[in-house]
Amino acid sequence: MDVSTSFNAAAMLDSLAGIVGPAQVITDAHDIEPYVTDWRRMFGGPALAAVRPADTAQVAAVVRACAAAGVGIIAQGGNTGLAGGAVPIAGRAGPQIVLSLARMTAIRDVDPVGMTMLVQAGCVLAAAQEAAADAGLLLPISFGAQGSARLGGVISTNAGGVNVLRYGMTRQSVLGLEVVLADGSVVNGLRRLHKDNAGYDWKQIFIGSEGTLGIVTAAVLRLVPRPRERGTALLAVPTPEAALALLARARGALGDGVTAFELISGRSLRIVERHFGGSAGVGGSAGVGDAPWFVLMEAAGSIGGLRAAVEDMLVGAIEAGEATDGVLAESETQANALWSLREHITDAEKAEGPSVKHDVSVPVADIPAFLAEASAAVAAAHAGAWVNAFGHVGDGNIHFNVVIPPGMAPHAVNHTVHEIVARFAGSISAEHGIGQYRIGELATYKSAPELALQRRLKQAMDPDGLLNPGKLLPG
Ligand code: MLT
Ligand code: ZN
Repeated sequence: MDVSTSFNAAAMLDSLAGIVGPAQVITDAHDIEPYVTDWRRMFGGPALAAVRPADTAQVAAVVRACAAAGVGIIAQGGNTGLAGGAVPIAGRAGPQIVLSLARMTAIRDVDPVGMTMLVQAGCVLAAAQEAAADAGLLLPISFGAQGSARLGGVISTNAGGVNVLRYGMTRQSVLGLEVVLADGSVVNGLRRLHKDNAGYDWKQIFIGSEGTLGIVTAAVLRLVPRPRERGTALLAVPTPEAALALLARARGALGDGVTAFELISGRSLRIVERHFGGSAGVGGSAGVGDAPWFVLMEAAGSIGGLRAAVEDMLVGAIEAGEATDGVLAESETQANALWSLREHITDAEKAEGPSVKHDVSVPVADIPAFLAEASAAVAAAHAGAWVNAFGHVGDGNIHFNVVIPPGMAPHAVNHTVHEIVARFAGSISAEHGIGQYRIGELATYKSAPELALQRRLKQAMDPDGLLNPGKLLPG
């Protein structure tokens, strides 16, 4: 515990226990561990306590108590992030708590006519997806960690995922927010409106601000019609250029029906096969085989004939040499198995050893050149490292992760990759956020006026710097 001498930790803990109940103020070294360390065990640091309020009023009271005592607050949802945004920073001075929204899981209503849903921040994304499905609708936010990610965190990080190509980032699915501000006041903007131009659209500043401007406690989400048919295919493709030609073909044939288009390096699928098994028959009976690249694509629609249209399109792609082999899922079970391969890449990568993540985006047409240049640069500068590249090629976002041998300095690898991203006028964080992981690099890759503007916003919203201290904005 790292607290300043003038600070009375015992009194603070008593005051927090008075708000949420003693059982919801976790201080025991063993019990607090999952709250103060991220799931990859890459980030973490000390906290006075993990505090688990039951409702918005308790969140507000906790924030007021922390504001009065100068205690930092790290809001946390499912703690599934990849940038260390939801856990303390090692070695950071000053008392702080982790404020877990995990008890606030209610889905308050689903409106099938207005196609909206009202959820509390601690609701797990998969639970919200199921509630939407029960109403015949779709909550179109989807990514590997959806079984444990909580919507407050999904919104606070403006999470991306596999359906951004069709439905946009999380921001596009948020209609209204309830937020607790740094002084403990509550702003309720839980309107179920699809149109609302009455003044600043203030909710946008909280979406993607990683709990540095306020704490999201509830949200109204936009739902979309649930497609009745889906076609899911895993294809071996010879090159990233061929993958982009296939994307253009798929959109030409299926239009907006293309909901996901993921590029996966052969090596990524081979590590999934090695650690988790199951190749779904692509690449021949021997398994994934040695294809250099794969595309996992999905199309969805409700007007009939989708599967036949996908099949025709795939035949055309194979004839044109854009794909060399492939499987079109015959059933929901097989489609889910194909997605499961994709969703296991991150875990397989973790099983391979330490890796340096790069969540980059470049203009879609530049993806092949970026992959070639960045791969060559890593090979030339970092002997023994290898690239695990996969991602949402349809929206220009590649996870250009580099698995490194023990002892290799991660920052040097970051530098190699991000310099190339900068040459393509790309982003060093397409969907994972800044958290504590990317903060050191932000000053290099964001312009001074952009950083100054963000600091003014932070100063206005959180003048004492108590909301997620040390995250997102370089000091
Ligand atoms: C994914 O798309 O699977 C994650 O965002 C990526 C990662 O593990 O880098
Ligand atoms: Zn991703």
